[in-house]
Amino acid sequence: MAFTLTWYGHASMGMIVDGYQLLVDPYFGDNPVSSITADQAEADFILISHGHGDHTADALGIAKRTGATLIANYEIANWYEEKGIKNVHGQHLGGGFKYPFGYLKLTLALHGSAMPDGSYGGNPAGFLLTTNDGKKIYLACDTGLFGDMRLIGEEGIDLTVLPIGDNFTMGPQDALRAVKLIQPKHVIPVHFDTWDLIVQDPEKWAEAVQAETSTKAHVLKPGQTFSLD
Ligand code: NI
Ligand code: MN
Repeated sequence: MAFTLTWYGHASMGMIVDGYQLLVDPYFGDNPVSSITADQAEADFILISHGHGDHTADALGIAKRTGATLIANYEIANWYEEKGIKNVHGQHLGGGFKYPFGYLKLTLALHGSAMPDGSYGGNPAGFLLTTNDGKKIYLACDTGLFGDMRLIGEEGIDLTVLPIGDNFTMGPQDALRAVKLIQPKHVIPVHFDTWDLIVQDPEKWAEAVQAETSTKAHVLKPGQTFSLD
């Protein structure tokens, strides 16, 4: 089964898993580095890691247009349900559910999660996806470094996506430590260069990953796609 992940810039990603389109943290219209517009986004499922605007901005419109099922923590799922989205699935940290595209578990993330209108958005999450043929993809989403990334790594991670921007999330140094804890086969850096505050040198970071770990680092430009065989 082919698995692809397209990075749209910032933390917005599209994954195609067993033919299903998964859209993660859609932020297009106000995203200065987005490679697509909200109208171009396709989704069978929309995954929301936490409530901040740079992860939720276009979710409501895309969910309404596509009829996609929105997956998030229980509080965020309820918030979207109150906004008129019928297909929502609430989970919580540590809990997994078997969807048609695979088994999706919500993982710990050290961050905030207030909704754009100030509503309580529960706890922020990362996502651990086990595809139907056993591939493991860990999206850390917005988080600082935490030692239990080692536990996630024990599952045997094929691909992880880590923030490297610093200020709001892990910076390059802690993201390198995260790679060492998770020990994935492949890593993709995100959540950098969107604004001046989080400008980084991803190539330099990738060189450090190559030099100090056995993980392959893949630096994408917004709009580029990574494939896992
Ligand atoms: Ni955030
Ligand atoms: Mn963010």
